[in-house]
Amino acid sequence: MNRPYIFCHMQVSLDGKIIGKFMDIPESKGSGEFFYDLAFGKETHYKHQGWLSGRSTTNDNFTHYKKPELDEQAPIVPEGDFVAEPTGNKYYISIDTSGKLGWNQNTLQYGDTTAEVLEVLEVLTEKVSNAYKAFLREKNISYVIAGKDSLDMELLLQKLKDLFQMDLVMLGGGGVLNWSFIQAGLCDEVSIVVAPAADAAADSPALFDTKEGLTDDTPVSFTLKNVEIKEDSTVWLTYSVNNR
Ligand SMILES: NC(=O)c1ccc[n+]([C@@H]2O[C@H](COP(=O)([O-])OP(=O)(O)OC[C@H]3O[C@@H](n4cnc5c(N)ncnc54)[C@H](OP(=O)(O)O)[C@@H]3O)[C@@H](O)[C@H]2O)c1
Repeated sequence: MNRPYIFCHMQVSLDGKIIGKFMDIPESKGSGEFFYDLAFGKETHYKHQGWLSGRSTTNDNFTHYKKPELDEQAPIVPEGDFVAEPTGNKYYISIDTSGKLGWNQNTLQYGDTTAEVLEVLEVLTEKVSNAYKAFLREKNISYVIAGKDSLDMELLLQKLKDLFQMDLVMLGGGGVLNWSFIQAGLCDEVSIVVAPAADAAADSPALFDTKEGLTDDTPVSFTLKNVEIKEDSTVWLTYSVNNR
């Protein structure tokens, strides 16, 4: 299959959580910056063309649960995918199989001081309404259709390669999306930046999470590639995924 190389890149607490109070204490600052610099900004280790992201991650960080304003009378849009004129920025590849996200515009900013502009690319399925596709076109937001009612991950990766010439894509959370690609054998490498902190919140999402109807708890194994220890006790671990 002709697809980009996929690396899953995440910042975690010592207990493997991907969000929570642990991120807000000064001792986690270095790990957050190191995590960002590996994949975003000027001198990156990973020179990827797109960041694959789950719907909860998008709503929590960028669209803030805003509902899209839809025109149910919008003229019928042409069939198939919509590729807006590329700007040269990285893509933010947003999994949104039902068409629920209320985007304001076709770009977003990620990061604080060295914020990088990313171009939104929505991933839909055939069940998404004409009104939602018209809403995206009106905002000049690219979209691809990958799957009938549920996400066809292989088709998506093939389209990222063929339509957007992507060779390297970051699988960037949350835990549900990460596990669906890993369990399907569609992730090549895992990159984990471990913060020297934890908060033990029982209900926080973990690096990998199952979701009923999507994935199960069949184990996957990994082979350690590298370990890097930073002065502030941050640890960077990279693994290859054995089922790919
Ligand atoms: N520490 C870090 O590096 C890091 C990075 C990213 C995110 N995060 C955090 O992670 C949290 C969210 O993680 P999460 O695991 O709860 O959610 P998530 O993976 O971001 O999103 C889950 C949702 O994405 C859609 N989805 C995922 N896999 C799918 C698949 N294979 N097919 C179809 N749809 C799929 C489904 O949405 P539908 O309901 O639309 O079907 C699913 O409910 C956020 O709070 C975010 O801030 C942390």
